[in-house]
Amino acid sequence: MANAQTKTWFITGAARGLGFEIASAAAAAGDNVVVTGRNLEKLQTAYSSHGSNVLTLELDVCNDKQINTCVKQAIEHFGRIDVLVNNAGYGQLGIFEEIARQKIESQFNTNVFGLMAVTRAVLPYMREQRAGQIFNISSIAGTAGYDGASVYCATKFAVEGFSESLALEVKQFGISDIIVEPGFFRTDFLDDSSVSYGDIQLDDYKEYSAAVNDSYQSHNHQQAGDPVKFGQAILTLANEDNPPLHFAAGSDAVENIRTAYNAHLKDLNDWAHLSTTTDIE
Ligand SMILES: NC(=O)c1ccc[n+]([C@@H]2O[C@H](COP(=O)([O-])OP(=O)(O)OC[C@H]3O[C@@H](n4cnc5c(N)ncnc54)[C@H](OP(=O)(O)O)[C@@H]3O)[C@@H](O)[C@H]2O)c1
Repeated sequence: MANAQTKTWFITGAARGLGFEIASAAAAAGDNVVVTGRNLEKLQTAYSSHGSNVLTLELDVCNDKQINTCVKQAIEHFGRIDVLVNNAGYGQLGIFEEIARQKIESQFNTNVFGLMAVTRAVLPYMREQRAGQIFNISSIAGTAGYDGASVYCATKFAVEGFSESLALEVKQFGISDIIVEPGFFRTDFLDDSSVSYGDIQLDDYKEYSAAVNDSYQSHNHQQAGDPVKFGQAILTLANEDNPPLHFAAGSDAVENIRTAYNAHLKDLNDWAHLSTTTDIE
């Protein structure tokens, strides 16, 4: 069932990529959109041809003070936030042992703690409204492990666990939570301007590490997913009365997630005879 009243969106990491396309789809549909990004000038340039229903605000999701200021400004400007899109994120790729602790912490600060902090700032307004929708942009990497993606996968699995549990907590206030699991989309995600690789070199991993990193680099700007169509799909979901808890974006995502869950189910079934022996009699 569709529900297409005018909404106010708040989108993180909206200067480019998937965030930009979600914002553009919502703005073109006549909704109000608060677009946020780390660099205000870049953001203003990106949205220079959009209308007055778009408000640009500087926001690094790792900056708590900025988060609270931005959310307040959004409320002052449009009066409410109906749809929060936690999109800001990047890929810390590379072999686990080749990634320094500080880089792992930065990855969690953006992809997990930043997402939680923005959610914490917006939820009081949604609770007051007794309505709201939260899109948390996870990944196929939030459903299965991938070569050279242990740290990135760890953050996206965290997003999945957080979002599934949050959905249970906020449902009573009319707030829904949608976990979006994109496959490979043609954005700057694998570009040097976004992605990060490990910078410790270990002889044991030399060939494997080079092969994995080369493979990601070779997919840069060659991905099959269309960010414009992604934006349209999120708009469609935002207008649904009963959206799903999980949404796989892209035919590669459908295929990969199905394979991962079938393998998980096979482990569960194959070993259930042992699994069920551990209860206290
Ligand atoms: N593209 C894919 O294949 C794919 C697949 C699965 C999931 N995803 C997820 O989709 C989301 C968007 O990625 P994308 O593909 O659109 O990549 P992108 O083109 O590299 O855009 C990433 C956006 O996130 C912003 N960002 C990064 N760190 C931030 C921070 N601390 N505070 C605020 N903004 C920050 C970037 O801002 P700057 O412009 O300032 O750098 C940029 O606007 C990410 O969460 C990513 O993990 C992407």
